[in-house]
Amino acid sequence: PGLAVYDPGFVNTASCRSSVTYIDGDKGILEYRGYPIEQLAESSSFLEVAYLLIHGDLPTKEQFEQWVHEITFHTFVHENIKGFMQGFRYDAHPMGMLMASVGAMSTFYPDASNIMDPDNRHLQVVRMIAKMPTLGAWSFRHAQGKPYVYPDNALSYTENFLSMLFKMSEPRYAADERIIKALDTLFILHADHEQNASANAVRSVGSTQVDPYSAVAAGVGALFGPLHGGANEAVLRMLRRIGSIENVPSFIEGVKAGNERLMGFGHRVYKNYDPRAKLIKKATEDVFEVTGVNPLLKIAQELEKIALEDEYFVKRRLYPNVDFYSGLIYEALQIPPEMFTVLFAIGRTPGWLAQWLELVQDKEQKIARPKQIYTGQRGLSFTPSEQRW
Ligand code: CMC
Repeated sequence: PGLAVYDPGFVNTASCRSSVTYIDGDKGILEYRGYPIEQLAESSSFLEVAYLLIHGDLPTKEQFEQWVHEITFHTFVHENIKGFMQGFRYDAHPMGMLMASVGAMSTFYPDASNIMDPDNRHLQVVRMIAKMPTLGAWSFRHAQGKPYVYPDNALSYTENFLSMLFKMSEPRYAADERIIKALDTLFILHADHEQNASANAVRSVGSTQVDPYSAVAAGVGALFGPLHGGANEAVLRMLRRIGSIENVPSFIEGVKAGNERLMGFGHRVYKNYDPRAKLIKKATEDVFEVTGVNPLLKIAQELEKIALEDEYFVKRRLYPNVDFYSGLIYEALQIPPEMFTVLFAIGRTPGWLAQWLELVQDKEQKIARPKQIYTGQRGLSFTPSEQRW
């Protein structure tokens, strides 16, 4: 009490104890519950990773089957949520729709406010992981003016999401296995990232003991910002604006002059290559095998090449982050830029929830309430308006 440490952006402040995700930013290490991201991306599935993050350990075969069954059972959303989403303007940003519809779910599941009951918490966690792709896909169909597609529970989690995005007619939607695997891997790579801005938002709002839908809606809002999850959309728009390799050097000069940031570069924690960016680069090759190479790839590669050798970026230890290449994959899959952050949100949901579960069970946690350094005036004497005007 009485002691305030000024730390804008919490650069040096640990706000919690957590056993979910480990990052060593200098060495470029990322682990979920102790497992290296490279191994999970290579050999696991998004739902298994979600189980790992939520439960703290890998599932047995029976536990995994039960988990998949539960998630699949909850993919549908209440028809009135559909009506709620249909009420948005035709050009509503999908992230705005996602944020609002996740928040709206708190009114459909009032039982969610009972956060002290473990079974109840589990039900909300399952519901949210299950329904996020449905809400995300519907926000996309809305922007396109197309009818919303209901979940197809005979499909896997990730293929069902693709079906809800792209299905136009019967029979069942079928995607190329390489595309499903690449998207599943992207979800894994986005699944958690310790105390990033959106996890911090979920924890901060969750610390008031509100229901998890309200807390996760706050996380979606934080993720929307261009310095956080919105960077993937900003990267794509930046690449389109640069237009050709010849324009890369002058663009870089503009960045160095402080006109704008090189989106998809730099990270608060990684002062080395973001391990997720390496894995995404690999996934681009798999996707481009199916879709053909995205012509913006050449511009991205040229930007990376120049930036990695340029003193401005080297001195500040700015490397490509997770958002630098992911947009190229999404675009190759015919997913428009305004949807990119929605995909990030679907992937990040298990991480938000794992951290929310940790928070509400942590006896040391208190309501998030930082201090401030007051810089305003004090002790003024008020004169009523009729005497001032
Ligand atoms: N382009 C140009 N300069 C940069 C960039 C960039 N992308 N990122 C940081 N810098 C400079 C910045 O201007 C500052 O320079 P100086 O010391 O001369 O003032 C220095 O590097 C340190 O920057 P900072 O803003 O203090 O660093 P931070 O840790 O607060 O910010 C960041 C981290 C990710 C917000 C920032 O690097 C950035 O804005 N990057 C672009 C947006 C982006 O790609 N965001 C996605 C992050 S990864 C996905 C996620 O978790 O959401």
